[in-house]
Parts: sequence; structure tokens; C-alpha cells
Amino acid sequence: MHSNRSRRLSRVTPQQLRAFEATARLLSVTGAARELHLTQPTVSVQLRELAAAVGEPLFESAGRGIRLTQAGEALQQTAGELNDCWRRFESRLAELNGLVRGSLRIAAVTTAEYFVPDLVGPFAAAHPGVEIELAVENRDGVVARLQRGIDDMAVMMMPPEDLPLDRRPFLDNPLVVIAPAGHRLAGKRLRLASLAGERWLMREPGSGTRMAAERHFAELGFEPKVAMSLGSNEAIKHAVAAGLGIALLSMVAVRPPVGRASATTAEGLEILKVAGFPLRRRWSVVWRRDRPLTIAARRFIEHLGAARELRAPRGARA
Ligand code: PGA
Repeated sequence: MHSNRSRRLSRVTPQQLRAFEATARLLSVTGAARELHLTQPTVSVQLRELAAAVGEPLFESAGRGIRLTQAGEALQQTAGELNDCWRRFESRLAELNGLVRGSLRIAAVTTAEYFVPDLVGPFAAAHPGVEIELAVENRDGVVARLQRGIDDMAVMMMPPEDLPLDRRPFLDNPLVVIAPAGHRLAGKRLRLASLAGERWLMREPGSGTRMAAERHFAELGFEPKVAMSLGSNEAIKHAVAAGLGIALLSMVAVRPPVGRASATTAEGLEILKVAGFPLRRRWSVVWRRDRPLTIAARRFIEHLGAARELRAPRGARA
């Protein structure tokens, strides 16, 4: 026996869901209308009909704007799952026709942006029917995307423990301590403790690199003097080169030194010789275990496995 509500929900249209999805993402009816090339009243009507079908408000006002109600959040999740279902159907159809087609959504942490495009390139060339979207965010951003199940997979260093994820480590991520070229400690053999008096530059809270540094420092009882937080690997490198402090950074973000004799990189950075470093960390490709992978996603994971044999990230062998 179907309840009234499920009867009403079965009449929800794709147009209503599209209007809802855009409004929920942009938190603006006007913005959603613009994106969908519809008038604002049309979107409002679709949202009203959808709320009537659900039997509860989907948005509420918050200050001058709107936000999702709990029912709205649940619907946003469900709309995402429906989209996934359609994408899988598309990829099954393609498979029946012997083709790999559809979309492939990858989220990568900012440090991985230095090599993920190199891995995606050959895959894209070999699979012209697959449209690839690469989102780059810090670890917190990638975890939030994994929670919402937005992407087919994510590339990151420390996958969250509280989500149902399968993972496959595939590349080394050596973390090194960098200083400006000509730093007084450059070339010396150092212990981490001897860097306690230095000004440390850290990535922003929410960064995986920062988390790895903090965990490691805490394990050793090392308390760095944090002078500044910066929101990207590039900003850290520029600030270090400008003499504002030293930092722990992924080796892939640092170009290898020019020439064998020197430890100075082309960007004016010096990799300090600190006992226990580089910190050996690894990147994994992770995906939600509770959602079937599309064919394109499975192929890409195989491609990453093969790539692992072929190359290490830039600088990892230095
Ligand atoms: P980050 O993440 O870009 O947030 O520092 C690094 C990582 O998880 O590998």
C-alpha cells in the first residue's frame, strides 16, 4: 500500500528536481533561474510544487538569504543519488555497446593538483567518450565532497576513517622542510628540535599537509612557533622564498634542485636536511564503498594502478 506521500513523490518531475538542485547549491532562486535559463516565477512554482509533494518546506529564510531545512538537505542528498543512478545507467548502456562513456568526477587535494592532471591526460586521450571533471580543494573540502558523494573518487593522503571508503594507495608523498635559499641552516645536518626557534609557516586549518605536520610534531612533542597560516602550497613557497619563515611541504609542490651539487631549487627554496625527513606519506585513491562504481571510474582506478608502476611524482625520487 502506497502512502499519500509516496504517491505524491512519484509525481515529482526532473524539472522540479533540477530547479531544486540549482537553488540548493546557489542558495538563490534568482541565481537558479539564471543558470537554468528560466524565469524566477517558474522556478518558484517548481519549488512550491516540490515542497507540496514532500509535504514539508525545503528552504527557510536565513538573514537576507535562504538555507536548506533538514528535509531540504535530505532531498539534496537524494537528488544526488538519483543523478548517480542515471549516470550508472548511462555507463551500463555504453558498456552494452562496447564503449566507455559518461562522466568521471574526481576530487583531488591541492597537493595532488601537481600530478593528477598528468595522470588524467593519457586516460582522457584513451577514452574520448568520458567527460572528466576535476575538483581541487583542501582535505576538508575533499572530505565534505566524499560525505555528500559528489565525486566518483578522491585523491588524498589521509582518508577519513568515519566514511565507508575503499582505498588504494598509489603514490608516495614525501614531505620536506623548506627554507629560503641561502638560509643559515642550509646544507647542515639538523634535528627537528633545532628548528624550534624558527618561524614556521603552516597551511590553513583543513589542509591535509597541515594535519600531517601537526600529527607528526605532536607525536614527537615538538612545538613549532607558528608565524603564519597560508591558504595554498604556492603561497607557502612564495612566503618561504621571501624569507618569512620555513615550512613543511609536499616534495611534489617543490621543483627539484637544479644541478646535482646544489640543494637550491629554481624557485629560491632550500630543502633542509632534517633527521627523519622526508616524512614518508602516501596518496590514495578512495571511493565510496556503498555506491557502485561506474565503468569509467573502474577503468580510471585500473589506469592509476598501472601508472604507479610507470612513474613517481615529480621530485619524489630526489
Ligand atoms: P592538502 O592535502 O592539499 O589539504 O594539504 C594534502 C593531502 O591530503 O595530501
